[in-house]
Formats: sequence, C-alpha cells, structure tokens
Amino acid sequence: MTSFSVKLHTPQLTDLDELVALDQTCLGGLWTKDGYQRELESPNSHFWVLSLDVTQTIIGCGCFWEILEEAHITLLMIDPQYQGQGLGQLLLHGLLRDAVSRNLQRATLEVRVSNQPALCLYQKFGFQVAGQRKGYYKTTGEDALVLWRSGLQTSQFQQDMLIGEQQMNARFSLDYPQS
Ligand SMILES: CC(C)(COP(=O)(O)OP(=O)(O)OC[C@H]1O[C@@H](n2cnc3c(N)ncnc32)[C@H](O)[C@@H]1OP(=O)(O)O)[C@@H](O)C(=O)NCCC(=O)NCCS
Repeated sequence: MTSFSVKLHTPQLTDLDELVALDQTCLGGLWTKDGYQRELESPNSHFWVLSLDVTQTIIGCGCFWEILEEAHITLLMIDPQYQGQGLGQLLLHGLLRDAVSRNLQRATLEVRVSNQPALCLYQKFGFQVAGQRKGYYKTTGEDALVLWRSGLQTSQFQQDMLIGEQQMNARFSLDYPQS
C-alpha cells in the first residue's frame, strides 16, 4: 500500500492558479479563476484541499455550500495521478467532518449517472440516490443523479466518521486539523 504524507487544510487566495489548473485536469474546467475567487471569498462556501507535505503541491480539492441546515457539495476532485489510493475518501471525510462541526443535518450533491468512481465513493459514506435530473449537464446532455445523506448529527454517523478517521490516520501520514 502506498504511503503518503498529506495535509488537509483550507486554501488561500494565493492558491487560485493551482486550483484552476487542478480543475482543468480533473473536471475539464468547471469553474474559472474568478469563480474560484468568488467561492473562496464567500462566507457560505467551505473549501478543503489536500496537499503533499513535502512539495506543498495541491492534489485534491473539495467544497460545499452551507445552505440552511444542508451541505451542498459543489466540488470534489483528486489529481488523476493520485486517484484510486484513498484520497477522495479522505477529502470527502474532511468535508463531512466540517459539515458536522457546523451543525448541518444533511448533505447533497449531483453526480453524472456515468461517474461510477464518484457514485461508489459517495455510497460508501451512506449517500443514497433520491432523484434524477434529465439532461442536467449542458455540454453532454447527460443526466445527473441527486444524492442525499441525512443523519449527519446522529451518534451512529459520528461514530462511523471516527472509525474512518482512525483508518485514514493509519493509512496516511496525515497532518489532520483537530476539532
Ligand atoms: C471521484 C474521485 C474524487 C474519487 O477520488 P479517488 O481518490 O480516486 O477515490 P478513493 O481512492 O478514495 O476511492 C474511494 C472509493 O471510491 C470508489 N472508487 C474509486 N475509484 C473507483 C473506480 N475507478 N471505480 C469504481 N469505484 C471507485 C471505491 O468505492 C473506493 O473505495 P475502495 O477503494 O474501498 O474500493 C476522483 O475519481 C475524481 O477526482 N474524479 C474526477 C472528478 C469527479 O468526478 N468528481 C466527482 C464529481 S461529483
């Protein structure tokens, strides 16, 4: 198993160029630099990035909007060179951990029907398909699945998160923010 030394942290405005480049690589250009800047400056947008400890290179980024009692996950991406090694799981765990600490009750997102890796990842965290939006993605006309994860404040979920954190600590040499 590969061992990484990674850091999970919130990004700064100085990271904008790196975030846009990562977005281009992972998502083909979902958000522009202005878009990232707006999001980074928005009090309702909560970002987490994963960077390599040694080089400080950003290799993953996730974001959610806090809307009332809900976390709307808008972004989750891992550099393709580092995919398939548990880092997406680590990042999603970081987003949900933040949502729990903000007292949010539910999390939701849209995902392409064909995006099997992402679907499997979200299902591992208890997300369930609640609906389908026809032709949601304008460029391809592909449908989106709408996923929801409720019960973020239940003791069962928080126990699962703790176990997940212990597993990730054992797997990665992790500089993890403390609650
Ligand atoms: C989705 C994404 C973030 C997953 O990141 P990752 O680092 O590769 O994921 P992990 O290695 O942590 O895998 C976690 C789980 O996801 C699922 N998964 C990951 N890659 C998979 C693949 N190729 N096929 C099927 N399931 C996969 C598995 O359930 C896996 O758990 P397991 O290793 O115990 O089987 C990454 O593929 C990515 O950035 N994709 C492009 C951007 C994107 O589509 N984002 C989601 C938009 S909603």
